[in-house]
Amino acid sequence: MTDPSADIQEILFTEEQITRRVRELAGAISRDYAGRAPLLVSVLKGAVYFLTDLTRALTVPVEIDFMAITTYGSAKAQSGVVRLIKDLDVEITGREVVLVEDIIDTGLTAGYLLRLLQARAPASLRICTLLDRPYRRILETLEITYRGFEVPDRFLVGYGLDYRERYRHLPFIGVLKNEVLAAAAASPPAGPSAAGAAASDP
Ligand code: IMP
Ligand code: MG
Repeated sequence: MTDPSADIQEILFTEEQITRRVRELAGAISRDYAGRAPLLVSVLKGAVYFLTDLTRALTVPVEIDFMAITTYGSAKAQSGVVRLIKDLDVEITGREVVLVEDIIDTGLTAGYLLRLLQARAPASLRICTLLDRPYRRILETLEITYRGFEVPDRFLVGYGLDYRERYRHLPFIGVLKNEVLAAAAASPPAGPSAAGAAASDP
């Protein structure tokens, strides 16, 4: 097998840059939740890398829990139609909840999750995302309290972000080479398209 780093055209954020920014976000959360014990909720699998680093840099007591979702149809990235395939293990009523995301693009996925969580009457509910493409937003009302980096409209992998389930383990965030995307588009496997791959595992 070839080195997965060879498929990367450009590194956007190095491991050091990510570490520094994650610590800053953890510092802000620790200050805002001083004296409280927030529950950090994350979506499998992309945000797991960010969540684990974030929690290790927090100075407040914290709990974590996970949801898993899947999306439907060919226009799924735009539809916002999401199916919950794994719910939280814990009750969130009366809890201070932070939804931790890897990247928010259209905002439809986060919007769906937010509605779902809000219906359970948490004491508070905020969003923390490592990456953000605000100019891509469809759900314009989405309020993001903690944001790591604004990113360009290019397909990113690494630090949890995948292309067809690969590249999540890369310690940096980079742009995937066009020829990798093009080659996959020319010989599509049984699975979803590039956009589908991104959206099918938010
Ligand atoms: P949204 O509903 O459009 O905000 O979709 C956000 C989800 O799309 C993220 O949680 C990712 O799973 C996926 N996604 C968006 N952009 C990228 C990318 O550049 N690389 C990998 N996955 C992405
Ligand atoms: Mg995701």
